[in-house]
Amino acid sequence: MPEPAIVTEDIARQFGDFWAVAGVDLEIAAGEIYGFLGPNGAGKSTLVRMLCTLMRPTRGRGLVAGHDVANEPEQVRLRIGVALQDAALDDRQTGRELLDLQGRLYGLRRAERSVRVEQVLRLVDIGSAIDRQIKTYSGGMKRRLDLAAALIHDPDILFLDEPTTGLDPESRAAVWEEVRSLNEQHGTTIFLTTQYLEEADELADRVGIISRGRLVAEGTPDELKRTVGTDVIVARVESLTDTTLQTLRSVPGVDEVVGAHQEVMVHAANGAAVMSPVALALHDAGTTVVSLTLRTPTLDDVFLQLTGSHLQDGAPSDRSERSSEHSEHPDPPAGEDARAPDRGSDKSTKGART
Ligand SMILES: Nc1ncnc2c1ncn2[C@@H]1O[C@H](COP(=O)(O)OP(=O)(O)OP(=O)(O)O)[C@@H](O)[C@H]1O
Ligand SMILES: [Mg+2]
Repeated sequence: MPEPAIVTEDIARQFGDFWAVAGVDLEIAAGEIYGFLGPNGAGKSTLVRMLCTLMRPTRGRGLVAGHDVANEPEQVRLRIGVALQDAALDDRQTGRELLDLQGRLYGLRRAERSVRVEQVLRLVDIGSAIDRQIKTYSGGMKRRLDLAAALIHDPDILFLDEPTTGLDPESRAAVWEEVRSLNEQHGTTIFLTTQYLEEADELADRVGIISRGRLVAEGTPDELKRTVGTDVIVARVESLTDTTLQTLRSVPGVDEVVGAHQEVMVHAANGAAVMSPVALALHDAGTTVVSLTLRTPTLDDVFLQLTGSHLQDGAPSDRSERSSEHSEHPDPPAGEDARAPDRGSDKSTKGART
């Protein structure tokens, strides 16, 4: 087996008598996209800073690309790219000047730099804005420039600390697309932190859920969601008969059917797959359907079950409700962006750029 990209053993960091990261064990394979999901203050940035050699662990050990973060920081830095939570970009430079400077910091020669700049711009599309001053960029463009800068030396492992916080849905989707293609085309290992459920769900091969400095769950998004239960199809009907219930129970893939009054709950491991058969069965039983809704567990349900609180303040407590199989990822709930300004602690430390 190839060497894992990232390994931590009981890694921890203390500030005063407070443990921001309280002993975390991770093993992340080369080529994996790992989503580190947790609310404000959970310890995400602190862990990223330790792995990027910007902060020493108080206890435990971290290996990145096979090198110890505390004892071989230079070796680690050559292999990683970092886009921290708050990009410190010089507003008066153009995007291209910033990328060129970043290349120089990594010791790339002029010819090599211009090749690399074109290569990263093929991955991260900034368009003609690349020759404009950064002060004219939108928030989304700054995040993408920052991502491009993190890629200039062709790192094997990329750390992205909340790459889409504060972005509008369209810019967020663009960053997701770039992260995905980087991983698929170049096999780059990506460690990304996020407070967005949809982001972890959409992008990550595996998700670690962090709460108060501890890893409270880990697995693929589907594995994690299965720990809190199965999908449920809720059918509201004009009148419920025994024939209806019998017919539904005979649908392949249906685990359990519970009916009461004018509502019937159909439990299934894969709700989307049985949605149409359930609709047909209701029709065949001569039942008039008022509404048919698929409820699937979300990562917030997982978080709620593990910690007793919601991942996102103000997030609705219901499981995600969809009225058809063709659901889109919902926009993040209102109020999330209120977090964006709360970034004082992450000011301006920027990998090789400081
Ligand atoms: N340099 C520091 N000195 C003291 N406390 C710190 C320091 N850096 C972080 N902390 C504290 O450690 C905890 C974890 O912070 P961290 O920045 O790692 O959280 P986070 O998960 O990245 O949160 P966010 O989603 O808001 O970025 C917080 O309570 C924070 O106040
Ligand atoms: Mg953070």
